[in-house]
Amino acid sequence: MPLVPSYIKNLANYVAGKPIEEVQRELGLSKIIKLSSNENSLGPSPRALAAIRLAMDKIHRYPDANGYMLRKKLADKFDVKIENVVLGAGSEGIMSSIMRTFLLSDDEIISAENSFIGFRVLANTTGKTIHWVPMKNYRYDLESMAAKINEYTKLIYIANPDNPMGTYIKRDEFDEFYAHVPERVLIILDEAYFEYASLIQDYPDSMTYRYDNVITLRTFSKAYGLAGARIGYGFAHDELISNLMKVKVPFEPSYLGQVAGYAALDDSQFLDETIKLNKIGMEYLTSELSNLNVQYIKSVANFITTVWESNEQAAKLTQALLEKGVIVRHLTAFGWPKCIRISVGLIKENVRCIESLKHALFDSIEKG
Ligand SMILES: Cc1ncc(COP(=O)(O)O)c(C=O)c1O
Repeated sequence: MPLVPSYIKNLANYVAGKPIEEVQRELGLSKIIKLSSNENSLGPSPRALAAIRLAMDKIHRYPDANGYMLRKKLADKFDVKIENVVLGAGSEGIMSSIMRTFLLSDDEIISAENSFIGFRVLANTTGKTIHWVPMKNYRYDLESMAAKINEYTKLIYIANPDNPMGTYIKRDEFDEFYAHVPERVLIILDEAYFEYASLIQDYPDSMTYRYDNVITLRTFSKAYGLAGARIGYGFAHDELISNLMKVKVPFEPSYLGQVAGYAALDDSQFLDETIKLNKIGMEYLTSELSNLNVQYIKSVANFITTVWESNEQAAKLTQALLEKGVIVRHLTAFGWPKCIRISVGLIKENVRCIESLKHALFDSIEKG
């Protein structure tokens, strides 16, 4: 018997966006901006930060394994029972628990090909049969996904909005799809960018209609600026949650993560500022990209994906931007080698990104 199952051995390592320190070390640059991981360039929610500072001297204690305070606050805010709320080390922590809780030996998974890489990595570790359904026009192809449902289907994953495309599924499209899904099949609706998309009229906020087989996942990593604290949450039927609570790593999420999330929920000022800044940044980036005749995919999240002529051009531009101290994400690992994803940053960061892009494009014409 092999020590490591083949489906693990054959996995590729997860390649994350380059950390600022790594680029500083490699290129000897001091002023670097990171627009590669869809984080909040404003920093963490100030209320969360203050709460973390106050809580720091208690980290010799384990956190509440039931996460009562934060779960209760989330339950009150979203008008559900505490029994409908689960916490995790980021929403990816909850995805991992979902796979360990519900998948039996012959169960199968359906999702979109080249959607959120974090889900793909976790799904591949299960060794299950996974139907990766190609996207259509950079959007989830729900019709083809529905056609893949069979007697073994157990889990369907939908990122709404999607990362890395920033496109979303409309309410009527989801309703139509849902009609094809048997009750025994669980649907994960990953709404990591919910706060950015929620103002769009036909965006289906899954909390406004609760189905017993739908698990909604949300996170403090994006709009609340707490990616490093690893704190996410999910809503679902009591029975699903009670089983997830048995399987999750006992003291996940960390004490500081729970404290930060609790305080961040009160930080509506920071949230408003974040959404406003993102709107201004998105308008600026899209208008500049249009002026440059760069193809991009219309996004409702806090990032925008640009489409280039070739893998080579996208790789060269990413490198050229990196050398100018601007970290963006070439989407090769995601399966979109012609695409570069740019997270919306502070106003001055967006300007620097566009100026650097102009230079890089100009240089490539000169050399070409
Ligand atoms: C669609 C999607 N889901 C989940 C996550 C991860 O969120 P968390 O930091 O809560 O694990 C991301 C992060 O990039 C994402 O893009």
